[in-house]
Amino acid sequence: MAIEIIGTGKAVPSNRVTNDDLAARIDTSDEWIRSHTGIGSRHLADESTATSDLALEAAKNALAMVAGFTENAESGTEKRDRAAVEAAKSIDFIVVGTATPDFIGCPSTACIVQHKLGANRAAAMDITAGCTGFIYALETAAGLLNLGRGRKRALVIGAEILSRVTDWTDRGTCVLFGDGAGAVVIEKTDAPCEGPGRRGLVQTLLYADGSGGESLVFRRGGSRNPFKTGEVIEKGIYLEMNGQEVYNFAVKAVADTAIALMQTAGIGADDIAWIVPHQANARIVQAAGKRLKIPAEKFYLNIEEYANTSAATIPLALDELNRNGKIKKGDIIMTIGFGGGLTYGGNIIVW
Ligand code: COA
Repeated sequence: MAIEIIGTGKAVPSNRVTNDDLAARIDTSDEWIRSHTGIGSRHLADESTATSDLALEAAKNALAMVAGFTENAESGTEKRDRAAVEAAKSIDFIVVGTATPDFIGCPSTACIVQHKLGANRAAAMDITAGCTGFIYALETAAGLLNLGRGRKRALVIGAEILSRVTDWTDRGTCVLFGDGAGAVVIEKTDAPCEGPGRRGLVQTLLYADGSGGESLVFRRGGSRNPFKTGEVIEKGIYLEMNGQEVYNFAVKAVADTAIALMQTAGIGADDIAWIVPHQANARIVQAAGKRLKIPAEKFYLNIEEYANTSAATIPLALDELNRNGKIKKGDIIMTIGFGGGLTYGGNIIVW
């Protein structure tokens, strides 16, 4: 029995903010941002949009693809929605990876999506694993399907509105992040998951190193440092990051995960069609590629357009590869995530 990806979707806000737009507001420049990160623009949600709204859009696109509707939403939102809602009835689990849920604690973003899709038989939950959120969510959903009990399909989403937790006066962090969502529908099929002709998710590795938790942290609002009634909040409400520490961790995490995935799946770099890494900084990917001696063209990057969209980055990239015809059946894809927690991990997927 294999767990195969049978639909993909994405959603990005239409408001595209370039480096020059940022440079008009804070002390930065297109040249600095591009040369230090590879980022050219980011898409930012308007005030009325929450993470579940982007998650829902991406989910509808993925579900509509399962129902045979592959056009862009713009070419027929109503038709797409009908196809998506029909396919949603067949979903057994909805798992959302996000570091920026609509609400702290509950309801989960997944429950909001479940309700709006009318996916009445689906159980729904969020996963907190920072930018590795999609990789953790995918393995959780696959594990639940592998338990059997007649369950066949899951909807896995990575969605973020990082612009809402970003300090827009801090040039060291605000230039890095963007908003977006990506989704996949996975199905348990009769194809083999190992040996000749293996398909789907053939390997997943998940890791955590909690000792580095302080290097990417939302310091306020949780049970450790709750907001207090009447308090004037002066600092600590935004995502805090130790850029250098995360950078060093990330280069090692990408290289170590790639090696471990290739070893455990019994493949070499030449067998892989695309490596889809989490994209926090193009230089992290380039440095890891150098360590691995894997050519840059193997890595699919869209950071120039979207910046770091955390848990959304990998499913968003998978949808672009899929819809743009850049992957064909049987291609081997390697995903690699890293981020808050600290967490990291990846998959080998035979498309
Ligand atoms: N525009 C212009 N100058 C900037 C700037 C910006 N947006 N941000 C920082 N600078 C300046 C700094 O103030 C510093 O100036 P100084 O030397 O006069 O003090 C200089 O650029 C170098 O800053 P530094 O922080 O050393 O830059 P860097 O090359 O290490 O790059 C990051 C910083 C954040 C891009 C890099 O550390 C990084 O990508 N880290 C990982 C981030 C990450 O992955 N986060 C998410 C994980 S999922």
